Amino acid sequence: MIRLERVSRSFTTRDGEVAALRDLDLDITEGQFVAVIGRSGCGKSTLLRLIAGLLAPTGGTVTMAGRPVTRPRPDVALMHQLPALLPWRTALGNVMLPVEIRGLPRAEYRARAVELLDQVGLTGFHQRHPHQLSGGMQQRVALCRALIQRPRVLLMDEPFSALDALTREELAIQLQAMHMAAPATTVFVTHSIPEAVLLADRVVVLGARPGRVRRMLDVGLPRPRSFGHNEHVAQAAECVAELHDLLLND
Ligand SMILES: Nc1ncnc2c1ncn2[C@@H]1O[C@H](COP(=O)(O)OP(=O)(O)OP(=O)(O)O)[C@@H](O)[C@H]1O
Ligand SMILES: [Mg+2]
Repeated sequence: MIRLERVSRSFTTRDGEVAALRDLDLDITEGQFVAVIGRSGCGKSTLLRLIAGLLAPTGGTVTMAGRPVTRPRPDVALMHQLPALLPWRTALGNVMLPVEIRGLPRAEYRARAVELLDQVGLTGFHQRHPHQLSGGMQQRVALCRALIQRPRVLLMDEPFSALDALTREELAIQLQAMHMAAPATTVFVTHSIPEAVLLADRVVVLGARPGRVRRMLDVGLPRPRSFGHNEHVAQAAECVAELHDLLLND
């Protein structure tokens, strides 16, 4: 589905060339949930921007369904650390924004927007404006906005890292439920190892600058997974410990 072959990306700065990624190879299959972890500055956001078509590689190729990625695509949604909602629009109005921009049938998508907002626990808040919502609620709205068009590919750059720990766990569980119901191919950048183990089929560990794939770990735990007590606690803890050691010894 998504293939990166010997992908490099460098930036020219006042202090010279900065290599963010070098010779990175990565294959992501249709519907797979991939989490990307790695130290700050190792190129995770750069990797997402390359897949999103917001940035061109300086070497190698990025392809999606066999075609080179050269620009942003309507079937690829991107979600950031901060929700970036339009303050003058309601929660529902923000979720509907991509639909209106692309001129899709409003009535049909409105029903879906309502359903999504309810799924993430925002029943009763559809008509509120962003300033009337907590940070966690705003990020839920942003998640609905990313999902409204049923994207084939969902790219998420530390989407929950500005939230308190409990809200963050709740949102991860909701994302898991949504992924199970309709699996989009997902690339999820996070600094949280437990979050990666909860959500991902495969965790990609990027090495320090310039980033390249240092290790991949397949998480074979059955879904739905949970953070609390469950019969796979020991296996999950083993994955977390393994990833922790990999990151720390980089
Ligand atoms: N537009 C740019 N111009 C110059 N340098 C850049 C640019 N974008 C990224 N870089 C550099 O590329 C490297 C990788 O940056 P990137 O933002 O991808 O890291 P990251 O892994 O997402 O870090 P973090 O975990 O802190 O978000 C860094 O050294 C950064 O300074
Ligand atoms: Mg980043």
